[in-house]
Amino acid sequence: MPPAPPNTLRPLPNLPQGSEPLFVCATSGTTVLGAFDPLDAIADICARHGLWLHVDVSSGGPWLGGAPQTLLFPPTRADSVTWNPHKLLMVGLQCSAFLLRDSSGLLQRCHGVGASYLFQQDKFYDVSLDTGDKSPQCGRRADGLKLWILWKAVGTRGLGWRVERAFAATRYLLEQVKRREGFQLVMEVGMTLECGMGNVDS
Ligand SMILES: Cc1ncc(COP(=O)(O)O)c(C=O)c1O
Repeated sequence: MPPAPPNTLRPLPNLPQGSEPLFVCATSGTTVLGAFDPLDAIADICARHGLWLHVDVSSGGPWLGGAPQTLLFPPTRADSVTWNPHKLLMVGLQCSAFLLRDSSGLLQRCHGVGASYLFQQDKFYDVSLDTGDKSPQCGRRADGLKLWILWKAVGTRGLGWRVERAFAATRYLLEQVKRREGFQLVMEVGMTLECGMGNVDS
């Protein structure tokens, strides 16, 4: 278990006078160790100090809508979340999602420039669904379509199976590392990666 975060915020050294924190980024499933930050404790601090809580579940949120056993530390108290369906769900690269709790058009207010020559309003569908004017970028691929098509093709159970198979493979590897001479487990984590060291000469 990771150590609990402190209950009080300590000022960081070398910050200009009057600096105020506004954003906390926690990670559920770090890239190398698969470590999980204690989200509830961090969310308590954020709530107390009015801080935006972003949670990076790129690796650790394999299946946000799935069965509880595949939902690692659900970031239910986050203001925003980043998630990579191209990892455990194996959606074709790239498929990265940025999910916001806000539904009041925050992204549009922050990034929208309303360039009428680009983002015409007189379309046959609900133009609030257009994403072009909600990000600092402009033309980008519709990554979400790949997730949607895969979901349609294999279904919720099919996606869950991909995650479960990855966990089963990790458990198998873990057992192999534990029982094999010349290998040492650096850390046992609850995700689909395990850290081991091997002696190539043995
Ligand atoms: C924890 C974590 N955050 C972020 C990223 C990068 O995500 P993206 O490729 O969407 O920039 C990765 C990629 O491995 C990751 O493991």
